[in-house]
Amino acid sequence: MMILPALLLASSASAFPLGRRVSNTLSGIITSKTKLTFNAAGNFKVVSFSDMHMGERNGDGTWAVWGPANDAATQVVHGTILDNEKPNYVVFNGDMMTGENVFAANATNYLDMVYAPTVARNIPFSSTHGNISVQNNINHQEEIEYEQAHYSELSYTRSDVGPKPYGSGNYWVPVYAKSTDSVPAVILWFFDSRSFVSGTGDGPGPVPAAANYYWVDPNTVPSYITLQRQLMSAQWQKVPPALVFVHIPVQKAQILAPLPSEGDHDDEPDPATQGFLNNTYTGLDLPFWDAIIDLNGGPDKGNVLAITSGHDHGESWCARSTDSAGIPICFNGHSGYGGYVTTHSVVRNGRVFNLNLGDLAKEVPTVNTWNSYENSTTDDAVELGPDYMAQYN
Ligand SMILES: *[C@@H]1O[C@H](CO)[C@@H](O)[C@H](O)[C@H]1NC(C)=O
Ligand SMILES: *[C@@H]1O[C@H](CO)[C@@H](O)[C@H](O)[C@H]1NC(C)=O
Ligand SMILES: *[C@@H]1O[C@H](CO)[C@@H](O)[C@H](O)[C@H]1NC(C)=O
Ligand SMILES: *[C@@H]1O[C@H](CO)[C@@H](O)[C@H](O)[C@H]1NC(C)=O
Repeated sequence: MMILPALLLASSASAFPLGRRVSNTLSGIITSKTKLTFNAAGNFKVVSFSDMHMGERNGDGTWAVWGPANDAATQVVHGTILDNEKPNYVVFNGDMMTGENVFAANATNYLDMVYAPTVARNIPFSSTHGNISVQNNINHQEEIEYEQAHYSELSYTRSDVGPKPYGSGNYWVPVYAKSTDSVPAVILWFFDSRSFVSGTGDGPGPVPAAANYYWVDPNTVPSYITLQRQLMSAQWQKVPPALVFVHIPVQKAQILAPLPSEGDHDDEPDPATQGFLNNTYTGLDLPFWDAIIDLNGGPDKGNVLAITSGHDHGESWCARSTDSAGIPICFNGHSGYGGYVTTHSVVRNGRVFNLNLGDLAKEVPTVNTWNSYENSTTDDAVELGPDYMAQYN
């Protein structure tokens, strides 16, 4: 066990309100879980799927043939992309089902359907949750508890900060170069951009009714990131490169959207990002964003490989500029047959990150990413790092 400096203990204790206990340990080190490791070629490939929107019904709530047909088609998309890419890890990056359409009695059946192609291939996975995979029929905490109970072997999803209204599903997962290592080569970070049932203006809770969409809780999650980062630094003498997933994009995505970047721009976030109240940007996602910049090592330091979101189905690009402190912001595109479709998102896709030990060991780490489509093509391959969109940085 490491000994924590008194200052760190004091500041972390006051950072968490309501007396909730947050342990001063590296929360992602779970000895009961199988260590995730790079393969012999030094690669660890992640496929990220978002916006499956399983379980859709007609507007009047009646059951429609297209709902189950779409769900089956989504499973074919996932199976095809998994067979083509053969990833080491799958991230379900939110809006797995259309929460307002599913039934409370069997909402978790839709989670089973979302995970089935990944589980059938025995691939470890974890999830973030969307604005829509909630409503009254199931909430993020229930989704996570179900996932943990039923997929205890393969699922790495946790909730280190919750419960609501602070969000459920803020956590990190270490990936090691080899199983005997004690310091991870890369950390996958996951954050909860929350939803209505995380608390609304109609009752106690920090998410006001006028919110267009929601945001990562500014009161608890930034201090969680800071504490974990400090613990990593103290215990490992380094903060490993970070790959970040959150369903709703940070507002900086809206600033980057007009830049020319590979991938679809059908659905520029306006204002479908974090931090908007009644169509006005509030800055309420900035405490989270500032913590991400610290994770990056500061502006333009390059320790955050990318922060990746779904939510805007017609967006599938990656971009970075001085406005994002040089941090690449990426979109997932659309992996589901549920949910709205834009001109270029008709052919469904997942986003691939091919992490490589050599790339991570560079002075400024890099990662290759591309979109992988259900028609077995790939596109928009780029290497994220200091050379990517250098003219804007
Ligand atoms: C959920 O329940 C509804 C209503 O009984 C049913 O129509 C639907 O097929 C069920 N879906 C799943 C995935 O079990
Ligand atoms: C949103 O803005 C409109 C127009 O300014 C205003 O009429 C309305 O009351 C506002 N709603 C909320 C919930 O703040
Ligand atoms: C969730 O976001 C989608 C867009 O991705 C939007 O159409 C829907 O109205 C939102 N639902 C809620 C409950 O906020
Ligand atoms: C596959 O889908 C992509 C993305 O929409 C498209 O650009 C490409 O032309 C398609 N290729 C084939 C062979 O269908």
